[in-house]
Amino acid sequence: MNDSPDYQEAHTDFRHSLSYGGYLALDDLLSLQRPLTDAHDEMLFIVIHQVSELWMRQVIHELRSAMQLLEEGRIDPSLKMLTRVVRAQEQMTNAWEVLKTMTPADYLEFRSAFGAASGFQSYQYRMVEFLLGNRNPFMLRPFAHEAQRHAELEAALRAPSLYDLSLRLLDRQGFELPAAVLERDFSRPYEPHPEVLAAWLEVYRHTSKHWDLYYLAEKLVDVEDNFRRWRFNHLTTVERMIGFKRGSGGTAGVGYLRKAIETVLFPELWQVRTEL
Ligand code: HEM
Repeated sequence: MNDSPDYQEAHTDFRHSLSYGGYLALDDLLSLQRPLTDAHDEMLFIVIHQVSELWMRQVIHELRSAMQLLEEGRIDPSLKMLTRVVRAQEQMTNAWEVLKTMTPADYLEFRSAFGAASGFQSYQYRMVEFLLGNRNPFMLRPFAHEAQRHAELEAALRAPSLYDLSLRLLDRQGFELPAAVLERDFSRPYEPHPEVLAAWLEVYRHTSKHWDLYYLAEKLVDVEDNFRRWRFNHLTTVERMIGFKRGSGGTAGVGYLRKAIETVLFPELWQVRTEL
């Protein structure tokens, strides 16, 4: 094995060329896990959050491109990106399996070190929610001290969401949706509308005629389905870890997260199932 020709010619001199670690900035990346205590499990807690934030970064990247494509009426390539969002969401949801190896006693060893820090202040999570259409101006507040981030989030809050763009596409493909839907105040949560339901119903009743819209609709349902799974797993993990204590971010904790589970992003796509 030691003199195997398979790897004898591998590149080993990186004095003048880009290496793996250099390309991926691994020195930087691996210097960013900085536990505040000696508690063994704090490393896991940091890594899981950072990995989730990296996936959110990818999700935002894909969502923005998918939304741009939908604006241009190009459903097919947008579906490829939305499929990637769905797969990344699965990775984020699987992360709970690793985190659940931590017990409440392990968690309490370092809990006091991070004070009021909480996922509630996750800029990227709010961006994902805003892009998907879960709009709530209150969620801008934790970013009041960061002008750039605040401005980016506010812009997303006021722009059409993934669902709004899908409805515009429905309209452009001949379903003629009302102005109250197409030109609504995007900073407000989306309200379901009977004419939107009627349009989706037509799509679902004649799938081969409206195949691209039908496929897009099912992809949106996949995204929402996976978002719900992430929320549910987070909620259960939180209850396992801290019971009904308040969250480090100052919310009611489990009570707050339970309400969030009732959020519906694409209401007519769920209603249509009852009507079919
Ligand atoms: C021991 C593990 C965890 C506990 C006990 C926990 C606890 C909580 C609690 C109580 C909240 C509600 C806000 C607050 O008052 O703090 C929250 C929100 C949040 N957490 Fe966690 N969390 C944990 C792990 C994670 C992980 C690994 C992530 C991944 C990024 C995460 C992301 C979030 C996000 C994005 C929110 C905002 C949810 C929303 O506003 O709907 N959490 N967490």
